[in-house]
Amino acid sequence: MAITGFIWFGFVIVHMVGNLQVFQGPEKLNTYAKFLKDLGPLLWVARIGLIVAFFGHVFTAIRLKFENTTARPVSYAKGSTIQASVASRTMAYSGLLLLTFLVYHLAHFTLGFTNPDHYSHEYILKNGDVVHDVYAMVILGFQNPIIAGSYIVFMVFLALHFSHALGSMFQTLGILAPKHNPTIQKLSTGLGLIIFLGNCSMPISILLGYVR
Ligand code: HEM
Repeated sequence: MAITGFIWFGFVIVHMVGNLQVFQGPEKLNTYAKFLKDLGPLLWVARIGLIVAFFGHVFTAIRLKFENTTARPVSYAKGSTIQASVASRTMAYSGLLLLTFLVYHLAHFTLGFTNPDHYSHEYILKNGDVVHDVYAMVILGFQNPIIAGSYIVFMVFLALHFSHALGSMFQTLGILAPKHNPTIQKLSTGLGLIIFLGNCSMPISILLGYVR
């Protein structure tokens, strides 16, 4: 779970940094999107890596849950939580909600199924190349309050999931001694917050009309 989760964590950071180029205008974001498309076979290697990591993550989660239940088939008579955080106790739910987000996100931005009118624009780069207008697609998408609002809500679940996941990953891989646990937990929460703020900055700025 730690390794497959880390692959996705890395992707989310890189994806966010790439997407933040929306603040630099259409030329910049569309050039970046074209650069990714032009990677050709390499892009497919990355995509296949992400798909394998995704299914590995879900499969391991189900197996862990099963092992957990079979190890203690009778539940505790009294369920009082002393130390486990909300994020740690809701990992399965936030994970399932992220799966819902991903299905919608791919249908919207990658496949153009949900809003074909956002997907059909073309842009002429300064060098004359005619490319898919990813910038227009993002702006049109987030000008819709329901779409922008649902992204913001999903980013709460993403932040919740990551805020526990990173600390848990260090523990699983035994990277740092337990005495560093409080620092790791703070780092994990901080990174979750950075991803939340970075990803929410786009729908919020577009919805409020700061980016057009
Ligand atoms: C506000 C936040 C986000 C924005 C603005 C955004 C934007 C985009 C856009 C524009 C694309 C299509 C790129 C293209 O066609 O060139 C895309 C694809 C994708 N996004 Fe996001 N994204 C966001 C958050 C996320 C998150 C949190 C995840 C994962 C949990 C994610 C996973 C993906 C994946 C897997 C793809 C497909 C990449 C591919 O085609 O290989 N995105 N995103």
